[in-house]
Amino acid sequence: MSEPTTPDDVQRWIADRLERIDPFRRVYESSEAHRLRHGTGCTVYPTGSGPLLGTLARAIGARRVLEVGCGIGYSALWLAYGSGPNGHVDTIERSADHAEIARRTFAEEGYADRIVVHLGSGASALPRLGGPYDLVFCDADLDEYPSFFQEFLRLLSPKGTLLTSNLFLGLYGADLPGLEQAALYRERLLLEPSLLTAFIGRMAISVRRD
Ligand SMILES: C[S@@+](CC[C@H](N)C(=O)[O-])C[C@H]1O[C@@H](n2cnc3c(N)ncnc32)[C@H](O)[C@@H]1O
Ligand SMILES: [Zn+2]
Repeated sequence: MSEPTTPDDVQRWIADRLERIDPFRRVYESSEAHRLRHGTGCTVYPTGSGPLLGTLARAIGARRVLEVGCGIGYSALWLAYGSGPNGHVDTIERSADHAEIARRTFAEEGYADRIVVHLGSGASALPRLGGPYDLVFCDADLDEYPSFFQEFLRLLSPKGTLLTSNLFLGLYGADLPGLEQAALYRERLLLEPSLLTAFIGRMAISVRRD
């Protein structure tokens, strides 16, 4: 293959190579197939950042990981993989169908004892959880994002890392539902004095300042 020389070529090169070494590619593809089958309203878009999630979990030595927006489990598997054999992932999913498929997938992949699916919306499930979590990954629909913010601050460990996806969905349509909530969340994240925030691609990464 010739040297990639445009931004699009570079993106394609990276996606192609990472796809080939992805241990959970099967689940990524099942997620895409599920969404097409399930139809309108299904938001199971598997993250394009599986390897990044696993690498970050490993880099920060994450042991306890929290996710909002399990889908059918692709990202949770990467988070569990990256956090190593002693890692544990709590993942929240409000669709009973998705939660059931995810539990089955975790069993098939040998992760049933390390990933727990909490059925419910983030807004209802988060207050029932106790921290601290070393890594929090938020990948849900946008409607409840503002209510997640204080919960994430409560649940994040002092050295914890918060990753937030879906903050720029306006790229896919200026009238998509939830854009106002995303804008509010973005502002809160950037103005929160206790957090230091940067962006990796379109994903926000936040750590505590002290
Ligand atoms: C973008 S998909 C998650 C994809 C998954 N993180 C992955 O990479 O494989 C969003 C999922 O979150 C669920 N969801 C959306 N909003 C939610 C909320 N407020 N609370 C809990 N689950 C939510 C949807 O039912 C859907 O399964
Ligand atoms: Zn679905």
